[in-house]
Amino acid sequence: MAKVARLGYLGLEVSDALAWVDFGVDMLGLAPADASPGGARRLRMDDQAWRIALHEGDADDLLYAGFEVDAAADLEQLAGSLGADGLDVEEADAVACNERAVRSLIRVRDPAGNPIEIFYGATSGASAFESKRVPGGFVTGDEGLGHIVLNAPDAAAMQHFYCDLLGLRLSDRIEAEVAPGFKVEIQFLHANARHHSVAFAEVVQPKRLDHVMLEMNALTDVGLARDRCQAGGVRILNDLGQHPNDLMLSFYAKTPSGCRVEVGHGGRKVDDATWEPTVYFETSLWGHQRPPKAAKAGA
Ligand SMILES: [Fe+2]
Repeated sequence: MAKVARLGYLGLEVSDALAWVDFGVDMLGLAPADASPGGARRLRMDDQAWRIALHEGDADDLLYAGFEVDAAADLEQLAGSLGADGLDVEEADAVACNERAVRSLIRVRDPAGNPIEIFYGATSGASAFESKRVPGGFVTGDEGLGHIVLNAPDAAAMQHFYCDLLGLRLSDRIEAEVAPGFKVEIQFLHANARHHSVAFAEVVQPKRLDHVMLEMNALTDVGLARDRCQAGGVRILNDLGQHPNDLMLSFYAKTPSGCRVEVGHGGRKVDDATWEPTVYFETSLWGHQRPPKAAKAGA
């Protein structure tokens, strides 16, 4: 069965793309990339031409998520199996492929309504990636750009779409009371050695996207990013902590479009030959506390 190999890119609809670019560059250590032919501002985190595209709009939410396949034939097989499952699959034309800087591309929606793109043949940037702020660079390559966590009302339908149709595998689940009286179940799915490329919480929320995670090779770079966020007035929504399942040491900051970005290091790797999915009953082993809001002047 053909499978997607990794999360390759994200498109975000944001009300202030310039603020997001500044945040991405100054706080996260991403690098500006050439704008898309259609005018979307873009950011790089490795030698791929771009990883995050910022489209001006009011939604302040996920616009699309792009999953990469390793062979052109995989794209044809996936289009066939998605179509056979009753989903509308759109084959992108040359203009749309050029907009994404890929060789071929199909589009479909997941059961939560998220526009999902599956592509083959990402283009490299004209120059090598370099970040002065993240000298150790980001964990990408075969593991892709990081992970996304989605809000989805129907977990069973999401699991069918991502596992049975796209070929991801269950890593584990977390069942936890995240606020008094508010229990949530989160399923974590892997497409490669990264513990999860996609997770979804069975909740109804106004936004599709809960957070995006970017992983840095060096722990020091995570600490420096946290320092930059604090010095730059970026709200840290969950301070340093470690998750029980992927063992990621991370903090969460508020992006200019409102969603959280998780900046992490040291995520656990999954080996499908030996991996056994399990269940955890807490979202953090330690930390990830919500810092108190700063007191208003004069209060
Ligand atoms: Fe995460």
